[in-house]
Amino acid sequence: MKLPEPQVSVLNAASADTARSIEELAEKTNLPPETVTGAAFALEEAGLVSLEERTTESVSVTPEGHEYLETQLPELTLYQAALEAGADESPIELGEVLERADLEGSRVDIALSNFSRKEYGSVEDGHITINPTTTPDEDPEAEALSAIDAGDNADQTVMDTLERRGLIDRQEGTSYTLTLTEDGVTALMEGIEVSRSVDQLTADHLTTDQWEALNFTDYNVEAGAERVTGGRIHPLRQLIERVKDVLIGMGFQEMEGPHADAEFWINDCLFMPQDHPARTHWDQFVLDLPPMQELPDDLVERVRETHLEGVGSEGDGYHSPWTESVARRIDLRGHTTSLSSRYLAGEADVDLEPPERYFSVEKAYRNDVIDATHLLEFFQIEGWVLADELSVPDLMGTFTDFYAQFGITNLEFKPTYNPYTEPSFELFGTHPETNELVEIGNSGMFRPEMLEPLGVEADVMAWGISLERLMMLMTGAEDIRDVHGTLVDLEYLRTEEVIY
Ligand code: PHE
Repeated sequence: MKLPEPQVSVLNAASADTARSIEELAEKTNLPPETVTGAAFALEEAGLVSLEERTTESVSVTPEGHEYLETQLPELTLYQAALEAGADESPIELGEVLERADLEGSRVDIALSNFSRKEYGSVEDGHITINPTTTPDEDPEAEALSAIDAGDNADQTVMDTLERRGLIDRQEGTSYTLTLTEDGVTALMEGIEVSRSVDQLTADHLTTDQWEALNFTDYNVEAGAERVTGGRIHPLRQLIERVKDVLIGMGFQEMEGPHADAEFWINDCLFMPQDHPARTHWDQFVLDLPPMQELPDDLVERVRETHLEGVGSEGDGYHSPWTESVARRIDLRGHTTSLSSRYLAGEADVDLEPPERYFSVEKAYRNDVIDATHLLEFFQIEGWVLADELSVPDLMGTFTDFYAQFGITNLEFKPTYNPYTEPSFELFGTHPETNELVEIGNSGMFRPEMLEPLGVEADVMAWGISLERLMMLMTGAEDIRDVHGTLVDLEYLRTEEVIY
């Protein structure tokens, strides 16, 4: 029998009565594990060895875990400080113990919750007491963490806890063990010759006519291969591209404009009173920049008048103070509706002849409290349609068509209030995992108080919807931080299904 060299080496290193792993064989044959795997599959196909597949788990200590390996688990630091302060005899003020323990920031919560969970003591009314019946001398989690770091085994339930605490990572993989079959043993006894075979045809082979005599290795498309984690487009970016293509397919054109803009374009053109709650520092990011110089004077005047007096003979304004200095302040835009006001005002150098359709898929910034549905920045899908006659069914129909392209067919609408639209609708979808109604956007028909000063004579329906919420409805993600921003898991980025 003739076999390629790696197969002969693997066959020689294999045994009929002990199953050997790919790693062991790689060590014995001095071949890279990928080569051994390839050879093993070929030998299995030839019936000379049998392969057994096993699921393996590899465990590694995370950076936070390493930090505790160097110091110790925060709850143990807390315990020691409490003990030193005398909390085994009487309750001690928590602040004093934390200071002694030198625990700060997130470490305080970590220390306290694990301290209580392990019943090392209790905290009541701001005082800490040590439980005399437990001792942390042999903390199973500390021991397991060191064992894992040393490459040893640890108890499964303790590992579960460590994983939940984010101190270890567990990854599943498959590995193979290999045993000689009877045919394999016979072949070895009869003697095997090395056949010269190559897995790559080179220019040299061709020019020297060697190719005629060469044996080529067969392709094995089933062999386990090394995992390559190359660059890839972020799932959110893929969705942005898809949204853009859908809107372009629906006849929309893309708007462009500054992320940092005058409040005039962000708020004042939208008939948002200058004392509106959304215009305080609680909501918007004001930049420490000189005020915007270039605003169209006549438009500034019309917007000011509208804020004070309203539009038309029946109109009414806010009568509250309106100052140009506020309008000229530069903010990070809190919505991309600033682009819509710029375009509708003719600032973008496009002539508007009804019907017109414009969109953008861009970032907006809000001084929100970060939680599962809010970040300080997010992507808005902005859009508007300008036409001679528009009504609410046109708006609802557009949403229905748009969302249907993403498989979302159960939209709900709820009347709401915006200073710049009347009527206004919030848009809701059902989350596929939690079945909860999630707000996904806001919309309406722009009011005369917005359109008249801008000089728009037709009807305009408009909306701003959240890209991340659309993504959550599509993928079942439950936390915006899982899809946008620095907390996104690398594993998710590497393995998430292609969205577009
Ligand atoms: N600007 C609104 C928001 O940020 C969205 C919107 C745009 C609503 C246009 C109506 C019209 O939520």
